[in-house]
Amino acid sequence: MKKLDGEGIVLTADEIDALLEGWTFSSYELGSLAWQKERAKVGLRMGWKYLKNRGKRLLKAPASFMTVRTKEFVQQQYEPFWAEDQIPAPVPKGKRHKAFMPIEWNGKGYLASRFSKARLSNEIIYRMIKATGAKTVLEVGCGNGLHLLEVADRLKDVKLTGVDLTQAGITAAQAQQKTVALDPRIVHHMPGPVVNPGNFRKIAFLQADATAMPFADDSFDLVYTHTALEQMNSVAPAVLREIRRVGRKDFLFIEPFAESQVDALRKLAIAAKDHWRLPAARLAEYGLKPDLVWFNWPLKLVGGTCVVTARKDVLA
Ligand SMILES: C[S@@+](CC[C@H](N)C(=O)[O-])C[C@H]1O[C@@H](n2cnc3c(N)ncnc32)[C@H](O)[C@@H]1O
Repeated sequence: MKKLDGEGIVLTADEIDALLEGWTFSSYELGSLAWQKERAKVGLRMGWKYLKNRGKRLLKAPASFMTVRTKEFVQQQYEPFWAEDQIPAPVPKGKRHKAFMPIEWNGKGYLASRFSKARLSNEIIYRMIKATGAKTVLEVGCGNGLHLLEVADRLKDVKLTGVDLTQAGITAAQAQQKTVALDPRIVHHMPGPVVNPGNFRKIAFLQADATAMPFADDSFDLVYTHTALEQMNSVAPAVLREIRRVGRKDFLFIEPFAESQVDALRKLAIAAKDHWRLPAARLAEYGLKPDLVWFNWPLKLVGGTCVVTARKDVLA
């Protein structure tokens, strides 16, 4: 079997810049005072969050008072989140927007739209599907289905499925499918014009818990997650076993693996948020053999993601 070493999957610097175009607000030299201030703000916010959690743990406060990513905590956060409109809007010019996030890329700091990175991820998801020749694809923790709704357009004869813990996420995805044409805001977020109108309506979206998915063994050629395992810290072993069970061959994870937490600030942020942060090699413990581990792309200060491809392997 051909090893997926990144060829045809990862993005070049020029491709990244082209996909970011129009989705960043302002750029800074990394050493500039202005950027150091952005970093300091994140550091203070995350440091305070971390200390608060530690304090509550020492005082043996109930889990519901802390940032502990239990299933209940995640559901409480995401049901109302997906019940609101979370479709990418173009970056408003002129003033700082609450949806901006700090990212670092190619020696610069940027304040970018929180939807900027999804443009890059979608390209990787699309390329992975093409590179593996997958005909059946599952996204686990698909939220409101944005990735699937977008990549579906360029995929013919590929059966796409998305599951999410929240009913609100699935309802939002299905609401998009009730329209004749794809939402213009989604089209604007895509890298090119619509080529297969109607493909987005063929995706199957269903509410399900990633620890017990309603699919037979080996149902999907490719299973992927995008910033979803990060929310499953408390159930990660069960989810990884389940992903391996329903996947037949290939896997893609775009998640905050330990490898992409490249400095103390990012390590602090990921601990404060209790995000999942396993080293990629540890996937092997769940019968998922990693090939590609790549993060030479824009990294958020909080939860910078790593692209990891893996193949189904024997369980130890
Ligand atoms: C940060 S959001 C990412 C959503 C989507 N993948 C994206 O990138 O836009 C994480 C998602 O994981 C889902 N999730 C968390 N725990 C889950 C579980 N046990 N089963 C299924 N989905 C889960 C949440 O409901 C949420 O929609």
